[in-house]
Amino acid sequence: MAYKNFSTEQLQALDAAHHLHPFTDHAALRADGVRVVTEADGHYIQDSEGKRILDAMAGLWCVNVGYGREELAKVAYEQMSELAYYNSFFKSTVPTTTLLASRIAELAPAHMNQVFFGSSGSESNDTAIRTVRHFWALQGKPEKHVIISRHDAYHGSTIAAVSMGGMGAMQGQLGPMLPGFVHVMAPYDFELAEPGESREDFGRRAAEAVEDAILSAGPENVAAFVGEPIQGAGGVKIPPETYWPEIQRICRKYDVLLMLDEVITGFGRTGEWFAAQAMGIEPDTITVAKGITSGYQPLSAVIVGDRMAEVLEQGGEYYHGYTYSGHPVAAAVALENINIIEREGLIDRVRDHTGPYLTQRLAEIIGEHPLVGEVRGFGLLAAIEIVRDRETRERFEPAGHAASMIRDYSIQHGMMMRAVGDTMIFSPPLTWTQETIDDAAEIVRLALDDAAIDLFE
Ligand SMILES: Cc1ncc(COP(=O)(O)O)c(C=O)c1O
Repeated sequence: MAYKNFSTEQLQALDAAHHLHPFTDHAALRADGVRVVTEADGHYIQDSEGKRILDAMAGLWCVNVGYGREELAKVAYEQMSELAYYNSFFKSTVPTTTLLASRIAELAPAHMNQVFFGSSGSESNDTAIRTVRHFWALQGKPEKHVIISRHDAYHGSTIAAVSMGGMGAMQGQLGPMLPGFVHVMAPYDFELAEPGESREDFGRRAAEAVEDAILSAGPENVAAFVGEPIQGAGGVKIPPETYWPEIQRICRKYDVLLMLDEVITGFGRTGEWFAAQAMGIEPDTITVAKGITSGYQPLSAVIVGDRMAEVLEQGGEYYHGYTYSGHPVAAAVALENINIIEREGLIDRVRDHTGPYLTQRLAEIIGEHPLVGEVRGFGLLAAIEIVRDRETRERFEPAGHAASMIRDYSIQHGMMMRAVGDTMIFSPPLTWTQETIDDAAEIVRLALDDAAIDLFE
């Protein structure tokens, strides 16, 4: 491969000179030197210096079937050789795209049968926003446009996705936000529950905040409520079991659509194809990306429920779409990726074995560690809250410092995990085994021990 003629130092110098990275402090990156990742296989990535790192984040929550799958490379090659590109405008389609739409409809909740494709999660959330507003306009209710979201929600990086998301730092850099988005509290009992308030009561209170927001905007103005079933980039915030049933009830009561962002939770991560099924939610739209191709190709989709689809189908031309909506190569890879997930029984394995085992094992190994305030998990998503004081849940100052330190020690010990504020997060490939989880938990313990020496000295 072309890069093999370049040394690590040469690549780092070129990168520093020319590459603007996403979500990066460039001065800090240039001071440290970028890590050049050159290959990956199974559960491990490897850098240009030959260091192998266990990837507890599945890339960016996406490599669900693990790295190095020849089957996916093969179908991409075959599709590119046969038909590299054609669009789905002009009353056309390509076979793989049609077959993928029909396959997704089979896997999705029974009332969801139509699929609109994009290339990224952000793009598909833009599609979802436009589509719910278009639906209400077609019903003669264009004023029904407000979308209620939550603090700490991550829906992507486009202007609409940042406005709909709940990330203060991103919104601070956006300038004027798009109008029509209202934000309510996240269902994050670890920090937001009142003293003595049960998790169940907290879940109902967090849902009530949505009802209050609907009433204050006026139900006649509210198009939808949007949420990640489990807030991912916001810190793997898992709502109490009382939360989603209440949200569902409230949305129905006020005829507000329910939009789920399953960009992380879709395609097996929660132990079902979709978290909607794992949590008993009946949404009107589901946005997916990432695990749909396990990151082997950029692809995303909005799965649309029958109620909306029936109106859209009768609504004349919908002026919306992307050059790469339903890209044939991405669709071919997605179809084979779904085959792999099914053939290897990965979803049952996450639901019945590795999902519960990840949380249980982390709790056993580090649950009583002086730095750990809580271990929580759902499927193959897990989080560890880092605190200075386990009783009072006081954090270290400055915010995020302790968790970044633990992340850096973890990488030194050979595992990539991520820090969000003061929360350590896990989202490994669905192919992890009990042995991989044992190894990972041991590395977390080592990283916590190292950090404790620095933090408590
Ligand atoms: C829940 C959620 N929605 C949307 C996105 C945006 O996806 P993309 O980065 O592909 O635009 C992400 C990305 O992490 C995500 O986690």
